Amino acid sequence: IDPAVKLVEEINRLKKEKNAVILSHFYVDGPLQDIADYVGDSLGLAQAAANTEAEMIVFVGVHFMAETAKIINPNKKVILPDLKASCSLAESAPADKFAAFKAQYPDHKVITYINATAALKTMTDIVCTSANAKQIVESFPKDQKLIFAPDKNLGGYINSITGREMVLWDGACMVHEQYSVEKIIDLMDKNTDAEFIAHPECEKPVLLLAKHIGSTTALLNYVQKSEAKKFIVATESGILHQMTKACPDKIFIPAPSVDSTCGCNDCEYMKLNSLQKLYICLKHELPEVTLPADVIEKARIPIQRMLEISK
Ligand code: 13P
Repeated sequence: IDPAVKLVEEINRLKKEKNAVILSHFYVDGPLQDIADYVGDSLGLAQAAANTEAEMIVFVGVHFMAETAKIINPNKKVILPDLKASCSLAESAPADKFAAFKAQYPDHKVITYINATAALKTMTDIVCTSANAKQIVESFPKDQKLIFAPDKNLGGYINSITGREMVLWDGACMVHEQYSVEKIIDLMDKNTDAEFIAHPECEKPVLLLAKHIGSTTALLNYVQKSEAKKFIVATESGILHQMTKACPDKIFIPAPSVDSTCGCNDCEYMKLNSLQKLYICLKHELPEVTLPADVIEKARIPIQRMLEISK
């Protein structure tokens, strides 16, 4: 028997036995998406974590996502296949540096992109994801001064479509910063029948080329609705798995990076997840996400506010 098939069987058996739910992000490898009870974007995953009745949550994504699930479910066990699955965006905003930054703007409210540590969320008025960032920003009166952290690209994009002037923390995602505008234009010239679509974590020159900009779920919905048969996709390559599944007759080309030899469209942290690690994680219920009670209590408030608005 194929070892991967055996692993999938064992994971499903353990999942049932332990009353666990598997939540996977669109950026993990295909087999890890296919085995999930729910696969989605950051907002969908936070909502799935809020609604689950399972006793244990296995988060196949990156650390801040599992942490968010724990904050929403302090009484449940939350485990993830690899504790080292970090996020360059979350790392770009250390809590002590952000506290000093925030202190310079005492009359500002803080909107934090969900790709951030729990510590950062404790200093936050409301959390958002790329799917609801515009709606969350617009939930504040126009004259309310705002800080947006940690993604300057998403923050800048939201400023541009809402006319706000949020103060931006200088952080970015290393995957979405790697795209080459020149190479994308070249590829578009060679594929005039293709539509170029991008995640809002991309830099402005890339976003200016895009026919559609949105969260991973929004991009996935767009390719299904669009009449185009070919797409150049500027986000982590894991999303191509769902796009190809949803539209087997369409062609999806990963947007080129500055250094085409580096495999930069892959998030090295998301790719730390594997079927084998998922199996071991479920078997031993390790590694587990734990947080101090006061952090959970404080970080839960801005997450709950977001979930209320995005019902
Ligand atoms: P979404 O799936 O919410 O679009 O976010 C992408 C991302 O950056 C995950 O780390």
